[in-house]
Amino acid sequence: MGMLDGKVAIVTGAGRGIGREEALLLAAEGAKVIVNDVGGAGEESPARQTVADIEAAGGTAAVNDNDISSWAGAEGAVAQAVDTWGQLDILVNNAGILRDKMSFSMSEDEWDAVIKVHLKGHFATSHFAAIHWRNRSKAGEDVYGRIINTSSESGLFGNAGQSNYGAAKAGIAMLTVILGRELERYGVTVNAISPRARTRMTEDLFGEMGKAEEGQFDAFGPQNVAPLVAFLASPEAGDVNGQNFVVFGGSVWVMEGWKPAGSLVRDHGWTPKELADAKSQLFADRNSGLPPFSFF
Ligand SMILES: NC(=O)c1ccc[n+]([C@@H]2O[C@H](COP(=O)([O-])OP(=O)(O)OC[C@H]3O[C@@H](n4cnc5c(N)ncnc54)[C@H](O)[C@@H]3O)[C@@H](O)[C@H]2O)c1
Repeated sequence: MGMLDGKVAIVTGAGRGIGREEALLLAAEGAKVIVNDVGGAGEESPARQTVADIEAAGGTAAVNDNDISSWAGAEGAVAQAVDTWGQLDILVNNAGILRDKMSFSMSEDEWDAVIKVHLKGHFATSHFAAIHWRNRSKAGEDVYGRIINTSSESGLFGNAGQSNYGAAKAGIAMLTVILGRELERYGVTVNAISPRARTRMTEDLFGEMGKAEEGQFDAFGPQNVAPLVAFLASPEAGDVNGQNFVVFGGSVWVMEGWKPAGSLVRDHGWTPKELADAKSQLFADRNSGLPPFSFF
């Protein structure tokens, strides 16, 4: 018995890295998985390799090679799940790319490509999954829906050199809350993870860092991210909604978003000079410079 027996899932960008590990684990827990990744559906494609590995382990999966950052590609991935296995239960939005540059060096194409794959790519699949779940709910069905998005600490704390990526990931963090509010009434929860793992995307950053000795726990292995995603996809997480988790190695943190850290409150307005004079009151408990980059 797996935690996801009988469920139907899509994992975007599941040919490599974190998405591949997520697809393998969802399948091991009993889900049938649409393994999405660009790069074709042929024998040599990464998505085909993930499907072959799932099948070799006794699981069920199918390749989808759509570009999920287009409306048509996202619609096609959701339609393939429904046409193949009758419905969709779990959507893991994971596909991503990097085009890192400082703001003054970034091209329009680099900005557009990253915003498109991450932000639009998360919304487009969620849009078509939401239509599917809402239609079934309106038809009187008891719907089970899970969306697990992939945010990043770059979008929570703001990494210099990643204005395109960080803005997209911050957008995904808030998209998670908005979709959670919209879809809860239809039986759907929406959560986000902000992972750290050694993958093609981060090999320059984490390449040698923390590489485990033979037989030791590999904290930066992408396989450490997947159990949280499988849990969030499961019935046990039915009361978890609109949350964002930092996850890597053996650590999982629930993150908390914007909240007041200082205030000036009175029953009439302020002049600019009065605000300048009250600055130390506004920042009584907080440094007025750049916020810290991380949380430990
Ligand atoms: N690795 C980390 O430490 C880290 C940190 C924070 C966030 N993330 C996020 O985790 C996710 C997975 O990243 P990863 O590290 O496994 O990278 P990766 O490059 O190993 O895998 C990403 C996969 O997405 C696929 N992809 C790209 N564009 C696509 C599209 N339009 N449609 C379908 N598939 C597409 C790629 O082909 C690739 O196989 C990304 O959203 C990334 O931003 C990763």
